[in-house]
Amino acid sequence: MKAAIAEAMKKANADPAVKAIVFTGAGKFFMAGADIPNLRKLASASTGADVMRKGLQEGHDLMDVVESGPKPTVAAVNGPALGGGLELAMACNARVGTKTSIYGLPELKLGIIPGMGGTQRLPRLIGVAGAVKAMLSGKPMPAKLAAKAGLVDQLVKKSKDLLPTACKVALAMAAGQLPRRKALEEKSRIGSKARGEEAIELARVKSKRKAKGTPHAAACLDAIKVGLFEGGRKGLDAEMDAFAPLISSPSAKSLIHMFLATRQCPKVPGLEGIKPRKIQTVAVLGGGTMGAGIVALMLFKGYNVILKEINEKALYVGVERVTNIISAVLKRRKLPSIAMEMGMRNLTPTTTYEGFDKCDLVVEAIVENIGIKQKVFADLEKVCKPSCILATNTSTIDIDIIGEKTNARDRIVGLHFFSPAHVMPLLEIIRTTSTSKQVVADSIGYAKRLGKTPVTVGNCVGFTANRIFFPYGQAAAFLVENGVCPYRIDRVLKSLVHMPMGVHEMVDLSGVDIGVHTTGIIAKAYGDRCYIPTMGRYLMEAKRLGQKTGVGYYVYQGRRGVPDAKGLAPFLQKARQGKPTIKVTDQEIVEMVMYPVVNESCRVLAEGHVIRDSDIDVVSITGYGFPAHKGGIMFWAKAQGIDKVCQRLAHYSKTYPSVSKFFAPCDYLQNLARKA
Ligand SMILES: NC(=O)c1ccc[n+]([C@@H]2O[C@H](COP(=O)([O-])OP(=O)(O)OC[C@H]3O[C@@H](n4cnc5c(N)ncnc54)[C@H](O)[C@@H]3O)[C@@H](O)[C@H]2O)c1
Repeated sequence: MKAAIAEAMKKANADPAVKAIVFTGAGKFFMAGADIPNLRKLASASTGADVMRKGLQEGHDLMDVVESGPKPTVAAVNGPALGGGLELAMACNARVGTKTSIYGLPELKLGIIPGMGGTQRLPRLIGVAGAVKAMLSGKPMPAKLAAKAGLVDQLVKKSKDLLPTACKVALAMAAGQLPRRKALEEKSRIGSKARGEEAIELARVKSKRKAKGTPHAAACLDAIKVGLFEGGRKGLDAEMDAFAPLISSPSAKSLIHMFLATRQCPKVPGLEGIKPRKIQTVAVLGGGTMGAGIVALMLFKGYNVILKEINEKALYVGVERVTNIISAVLKRRKLPSIAMEMGMRNLTPTTTYEGFDKCDLVVEAIVENIGIKQKVFADLEKVCKPSCILATNTSTIDIDIIGEKTNARDRIVGLHFFSPAHVMPLLEIIRTTSTSKQVVADSIGYAKRLGKTPVTVGNCVGFTANRIFFPYGQAAAFLVENGVCPYRIDRVLKSLVHMPMGVHEMVDLSGVDIGVHTTGIIAKAYGDRCYIPTMGRYLMEAKRLGQKTGVGYYVYQGRRGVPDAKGLAPFLQKARQGKPTIKVTDQEIVEMVMYPVVNESCRVLAEGHVIRDSDIDVVSITGYGFPAHKGGIMFWAKAQGIDKVCQRLAHYSKTYPSVSKFFAPCDYLQNLARKA
């Protein structure tokens, strides 16, 4: 692409008939930036940094010609201008955009930084604080915001006016009627050095907390700072120096892997050519924790939603939950409260099945009880139209069992949202052997419209996400009941693995009672290799259920948990009775808690419940918060050395005979280790 643009520029600049140059995109995009599969190749190649440096130099040279060549240039931005696309637009002497155009530098999401002058031109167009925020978040700016910020000079009302307007601006520049602005030389918007430095250092502190030892945010901020103090040219050199080594950093490799893995997820073999049907009217059964989040999300996305509860009181509470979620989101996004009325207008609360005959999809999110769910699905078959998709949000129950009392198994599917449903990106789509291909395709389409990452998985207890992570909680429980402090385990997982919260903080969040209930179901299915803890039961008996009762492993003031060593001591003593006290290092904690997750992931792979290895990585990141900059649980395991993971599990299996089956590496993992 760079070479093609350079060639076209050369021709245009040499042609006396050409007065000015206008860039636009051929399709829906202006330009979407880097070739990411190629970046992956570079990230893994030993010469990656050198090849990158050469490419960056060519990019800078090209941007120089665009910005300061013999003829004025204008970007006619007809759609997304992302990464290198926005860098090209910023090098142009003016930008004209449509109302639907968007502008972003998402490079940091890939563990790299903008490499064609983005770190220098954006601060000069919109100011340091705005530029730092845009680059560190990687979020694209919509047209109106970009125009307000100064990134776009003019917005056209109708797409058909884009090119004529851009040409007019370009010709006016060529005729000297309009100044030819060069972003790299702009001084009016960058602001004072002191204020710029303040914005950079503030962002550095925030990003250190978030980026957990990854180098790209600091590299980006350093390059911006050089530009601020030493000028744009020096800043470009700093940008190039910082970018080239980043490409082979472990975090860039991991984030690029994660990006490509996520892009693969919606591609399910066998569904080629099947178009998702339109889903517009959806009923949700149950307005509890999950149902309310699902309803709120759908209202945001413009669906007509029916919410059914068991009685008026529960319905009132359910609607209140939905209202609270929506108002919190509106407040956070600084949107007017009128949006609430508009959203709620599309909600129909009910205690009956009225209106279900019009639904394209029903999502059941009621209590986790097989008998009740079976009865509800039998009812749904009677009241819904024959094409309606019947989905369950169960977290553990076999989907076939839920549909056992119906003749509608071809349209029954699991749509497993994660809590909070309006926030967590993963939507596990569980297909049984009876679920039709059309229903799977519809579910993927629905997930995409909700902005979720759809991962299609097979039907087994715990499905994929909860199944691969059940050993996580059980291993921690084994350590705790054998003398290791739960708060130490949480600290180690956060500081060494970079999990967003410790395992006991997670248990407190979802509920100690839920954990005990789920362990029962998991133990029934995978009992031979489970560790069944007693601690949870003792806490449950004392109503220490976690955040919902204000105390669990931690004591809560609002959502903030504080360790409660004294309060926990009698429960620990009871749970540890008759068990040996073991001594472990921090590294051993990491291995004993995380490697069993790798082992169970291997079992899921061996049983064919996921389409590809990388789906497991996506599930671990989007469902359980495993850090994206480590690429997902299997990617991380491979980086650790699969043979090492296997050996260490075998070691723990031998060292702790009471849990020897829990730690024993499965055949699939042993095979991987042999091949490694
Ligand atoms: N809480 C989680 O973290 C989580 C995560 C993923 C999946 N799930 C699953 O989602 C489902 C709901 O979980 P939850 O945490 O929202 O439960 P919850 O107890 O908060 O809410 C359940 C709601 O369903 C209502 N209900 C019960 N029977 C009903 C019926 N016949 N018709 C309509 N409403 C009925 C109840 O009144 C209650 O308001 C369960 O299957 C659970 O396993 C939960």
